[in-house]
Amino acid sequence: MVTYFNGEFVDDAKATISVRSRALNYGLGCFGGIRGYLADDGHQVNLFRLWSHVRRLELSARILCLRLPGTADEICEIILELIRRNEVHHDVYVRPLLISGSPMLAPVLREEDSLFTAYCMPLKRYIDKDMIDVCVSSWRRVRDNAIPTRTKPTGVYLNSALARREAFDNGFDEAIFLTEEGKVSEGSAEHVFLIRRGVLYSPPSTEDNLDGITRRSIIKMATEDLQMPFVERSLGRSELYVADEIFLCGTGAQITPVRSVDRRVISERIGPVTGELQAYFGDVVHGRVAKRSEWLSPVWP
Ligand SMILES: Cc1ncc(COP(=O)(O)O)c(C=O)c1O
Repeated sequence: MVTYFNGEFVDDAKATISVRSRALNYGLGCFGGIRGYLADDGHQVNLFRLWSHVRRLELSARILCLRLPGTADEICEIILELIRRNEVHHDVYVRPLLISGSPMLAPVLREEDSLFTAYCMPLKRYIDKDMIDVCVSSWRRVRDNAIPTRTKPTGVYLNSALARREAFDNGFDEAIFLTEEGKVSEGSAEHVFLIRRGVLYSPPSTEDNLDGITRRSIIKMATEDLQMPFVERSLGRSELYVADEIFLCGTGAQITPVRSVDRRVISERIGPVTGELQAYFGDVVHGRVAKRSEWLSPVWP
């Protein structure tokens, strides 16, 4: 595979960093995750909301005192070129990563130490199940005031990994974090939506979660295209248990329906609202919905 690394496209094996790097030692960095979908013609690949993902990375860099090596448009072009150089004609996942490449001691954030890399890989399903059983994690989500989760910081994924490990050890497929205040925050790498009495709910990004692009897209699709009532507000833990439907969403998870939370069965089958959103989302990312085509960046001319 070809990887973009610090200003050039190189063979994957050459895209390496020092064991001394601050990124490795202190988790200094932030990243993105972008999906490309093979279009119905079997040739074109469309990246979903490329610009929004790059813009989020740009804002993360601002918060974390790091620097991208160009404008958002230039970074988008690097990512498109990465896909072309890898001759991709399949569903793909791109990982842009902005880290501190400094090999010095002490956790120090400096714009001039920024190192930008981007690599890609084939990806079908991130969660390989039609419906999942989730738990509420005993680990709390890291507070925005400790590590700003909205920046998708590399270091904060230790928090996610601990929650996933606990969930798997206890026989669940995924974990939902609560904030320190006990409100629903997000999954280890997904946002949470629930449906109750026909209304869609999701907690705001002030509940210590990532500023999610799939989440924002779902809110737009639900309210503008599918006329579904939506309310953004804090959600208590027990509201999960009494929901009619729940799904998790994210670039990896896409829309993943939840069967149960803490062994309380929500729905044995994919519910009508989740099903409608899943189908519509599939149409949008595959370029079948003209009004949402501006969300897609075609890779091939
Ligand atoms: C912690 C976390 N929450 C939510 C999401 C979903 O965000 P997005 O839809 O922008 O991919 C991710 C990304 O994969 C994530 O890492």
